Amino acid sequence: MSDNQPNSRYVALKMCLNVIEHGRSLSQTLAEGLAQFSDRRERAFTQNLVLGTLRWQERLAAIRAHLLKKPLKAKDEDVNQLILIGLYQILYMDTPEHAAVSETVTLTQKLKKPWAKALVNGVLRNFLRDAETIQAEVDLKPAYKFSHPQWFTKAMRKAYPDDWQAILTANNEPAPLSLRVNTHFQPLETFKAALEAEGVACQTHPYSPAALVLEQALDITQLPTYDDGGFSVQDIAAQQAAYILNPQPNERVLDACAAPGGKTTHLLELANNQLDLLALEKEPERIERLSENLHRLQLDAEVDVGDASQPDDWWNGTRFDKILLDAPCSATGIIRRHPDIKWHRTMEDIEALVETQSDILRALWQTLKPGGRLLYSTCSVMPQENGLQMEAFLAETADAKEIPIEREWGFKQDLPGKQILPGSEGMDGFYYCLLEKSE
Ligand SMILES: C[S@@+](CC[C@H](N)C(=O)[O-])C[C@H]1O[C@@H](n2cnc3c(N)ncnc32)[C@H](O)[C@@H]1O
Repeated sequence: MSDNQPNSRYVALKMCLNVIEHGRSLSQTLAEGLAQFSDRRERAFTQNLVLGTLRWQERLAAIRAHLLKKPLKAKDEDVNQLILIGLYQILYMDTPEHAAVSETVTLTQKLKKPWAKALVNGVLRNFLRDAETIQAEVDLKPAYKFSHPQWFTKAMRKAYPDDWQAILTANNEPAPLSLRVNTHFQPLETFKAALEAEGVACQTHPYSPAALVLEQALDITQLPTYDDGGFSVQDIAAQQAAYILNPQPNERVLDACAAPGGKTTHLLELANNQLDLLALEKEPERIERLSENLHRLQLDAEVDVGDASQPDDWWNGTRFDKILLDAPCSATGIIRRHPDIKWHRTMEDIEALVETQSDILRALWQTLKPGGRLLYSTCSVMPQENGLQMEAFLAETADAKEIPIEREWGFKQDLPGKQILPGSEGMDGFYYCLLEKSE
């Protein structure tokens, strides 16, 4: 370890506690925690340890329960998480077993809980003695084997009887880093050659003509043309929105839930920056990122703070040719990027979100021109937020009809719209349904 670097396992422990005990978001916690490291390898090790311990939290906790005589008190969640950090290193990292145990046990000093030293040491060593048997027993329960909350495991089994295991497995894998080249600014081939000249390996993707998938994660702000707006970071699944809505120059377009602007900027790029586009966002603090992205990519849109379900507050009465409703959702399609979603989301959240989505959808429908199109999307895999939501809307809305999305991708289901399952062709989990309003 280099001098002056904080103890990576201790920083990882604090980050896990922030997420699990204090309910903070992983992205925010990671950004703050990793900023303490100047050494790239230490930073990568710590990030891997935190993401992995959170990904495998349910399974590791079941193993811990197997090894403890009785559960620890709520005030000892730090010791609980420390045991998981030790188990994660033993099971999933190439840290030698003796180092994983001794480094983890040493941290009990920092917790100022001397009693925990023998306990953590005993638990980890007992696990090593009987690792195969303990894992076999724990893995009898699918929620533990695939390390997801019970309610979510059940929901996936019900919705995707043949694919739930693949979904849960994909959720525990690291996600690739995909870029969307601003083809309004530079041809994809030019950018690909510039990356390769700098030793950055990348691949095109069959489902997006603007996509490059990087083989290794890196600091994208250091790549050529970043400051000039030559590209954005965006998953291939999210890149489908602009292609499906297919904006044409001079159309009046609403991006109703726009921040941080990944899809707003793609819509503008596709129409050569010639749209009359209103980018609406409810959260004022998220508007800044949206404006920064528009500025960096040299694109123009009207940006407004407003609640999409209350058009009277922001709509000037001129109807839109096209609307993108990238709805607030459970984000259960992007668990691989945000494993904390598993611990923060509940079934009650899903019910509340379904209502919010439906309110927004109904309100926005009034602002769409006859003959206009609305694309509804989520990064969720819950049918209630997706196909069932659209089925209900189509049933109650006489002037709405579904326009089939003719694309090679997508999971075939007996509901409106198209669902992309997490990990399919390397993509995030996403849902799209395209509607048209009758003339
Ligand atoms: C899925 S994110 C949008 C991502 C964005 N379309 C992109 O591609 O970068 C949903 C956004 O909707 C915003 N939001 C939530 N409820 C809203 C509402 N009622 N009206 C407008 N925006 C809302 C959230 O703050 C969040 O920024």
